[in-house]
Amino acid sequence: MSERGLFIVLEGIDGSGKTTLRDGICNSLKSNGFDAIPTAEPTNESIGRFLRDGGTDNQLAEALLFVADRACHTDDIRDKVKNGISVVCDRYYASTLAYQSAGSGGPDYDLLVTLNELATIEPDVTFLLDIDPEKGMSRVDDRGEERSKFEKLEFQKRVRAKYLEIAEEKGFIILDATLSKETLLSQAMEHIMEKKR
Ligand code: TYD
Repeated sequence: MSERGLFIVLEGIDGSGKTTLRDGICNSLKSNGFDAIPTAEPTNESIGRFLRDGGTDNQLAEALLFVADRACHTDDIRDKVKNGISVVCDRYYASTLAYQSAGSGGPDYDLLVTLNELATIEPDVTFLLDIDPEKGMSRVDDRGEERSKFEKLEFQKRVRAKYLEIAEEKGFIILDATLSKETLLSQAMEHIMEKKR
């Protein structure tokens, strides 16, 4: 039976560089001889695609759908990790805790925690890529894509504050997302290889 893979999560506001770091971690794990795959939430399955296409204005329904998408994704992650494949995921439960509690009139934070407890496994390590929302939003604009409904500066500021609270409570590793991508990758890999020892 192969050794269990690691479940690694990247969190952060929009424009914090999660996808670049995720792909760097996967390539680095592979060059160290480990099997690794990148993945993301919202997923590319039907619920995830609905959310990426704009979701719904009903905040409770939207939170439930993010968690439903995650519940299905978790089945797949659990299987891969059990079979020795490391999974590196762009966003997981802390995204719902931070984003769905940052608006006004959204579901109660404790309810979001309870729902996520039903749908998740605990990652081996979660990195929070922390960045000033003004910088994050300017990176989003540089991509030339239209901003999504979540990509508004005031909202991103509240999301960042929530993320920092969650990170402290859950023991996430906070990385300074303004560092070069090489430095971020080497900092992340140091933590990851410690788990492999
Ligand atoms: P994002 O990671 O930005 O997707 P992409 O970079 O491929 O466009 O996710 C899309 C948006 O969904 C992002 O603004 C954050 C939001 N989101 C939530 O509000 N809650 C969640 O639980 C997740 C996973 C994402």
